[in-house]
Amino acid sequence: MTIDIGQRLLGHSKQSQLEFNRQAVEPVRYRDMQRNVTARAKAVGQPAQRCCQPQLIQQRRVEPTDDMLSYVLAAKIDGEPIPEQDILDFCLLMFMAGLDTVATQLTYNLWHLATHDDDRHRLVAEPELWPSAIEELLRFYSFVTPGRKVMKDTEIAGCPIKAGQMVYMPLVSANRDPREFENADQVIIDREVNRHIAFGAGPHRCLGSHLAREELFIAMSMWHERIPEYRIAPGTTVMEHGGQMGISSLPLVWDV
Ligand code: HEM
Repeated sequence: MTIDIGQRLLGHSKQSQLEFNRQAVEPVRYRDMQRNVTARAKAVGQPAQRCCQPQLIQQRRVEPTDDMLSYVLAAKIDGEPIPEQDILDFCLLMFMAGLDTVATQLTYNLWHLATHDDDRHRLVAEPELWPSAIEELLRFYSFVTPGRKVMKDTEIAGCPIKAGQMVYMPLVSANRDPREFENADQVIIDREVNRHIAFGAGPHRCLGSHLAREELFIAMSMWHERIPEYRIAPGTTVMEHGGQMGISSLPLVWDV
């Protein structure tokens, strides 16, 4: 669902979505790809760049619609149209950033609620708590670890860092900081003040956060209207992976 919405924003028709999925989306579904961020970016990026987007861009130049791609093609920066390569890079960034983020968050949410009956029962009885619960689950299970290249030699907390090195910052450590959050290591689904940075901070803060919140709300509330009782399948193991963090296997069962 979430990939489908992202592709439609970028102007894909049903048919070009199928081709795009075959070349660019399927490779990242493999667990090894999830662990290796560089391999993942290559596996998705190269086909995504050459597959459907260049043809779509040509089409939209001739016949613009009301999609995001047409909007970006018409945009100007300092009076100049945006260069073709920058538009392709923008499409790739949008695609990669929205590819499996909401799906990953959904698996953490379902894992938490499958293993915390009190929280699940309360949300089923009081669905008006979904917005605060979704924020709290975003805070507690923040899976994104942004990376930055260091521009000049520096030192943080006694650790020397050289210009040109990469640093990775797991957002979850900030989001569980007891100096900011009371009972930081507990999920409190009706937490009132929640200044988390699961969507990042600063100029690169997530462009899709409103869409992500909406998708999470719809998916979680509709699931629980239909399937209020579920659990981890007995005798199975839930598998989590690092790299681009996420849950690779979440076997759930419910009664029908
Ligand atoms: C639960 C879902 C999501 C989470 C937790 C999330 C989180 C993040 C984070 C932490 C960043 C900042 C990365 C950095 O600082 O390097 C980011 C950037 C971004 N996100 Fe999301 N994201 C989500 C969903 C989405 C969706 C659905 C889209 C688009 C359809 C999207 C589009 C973007 C884009 C384009 C950027 C780059 C912004 C920039 O560099 O200026 N995200 N996201």
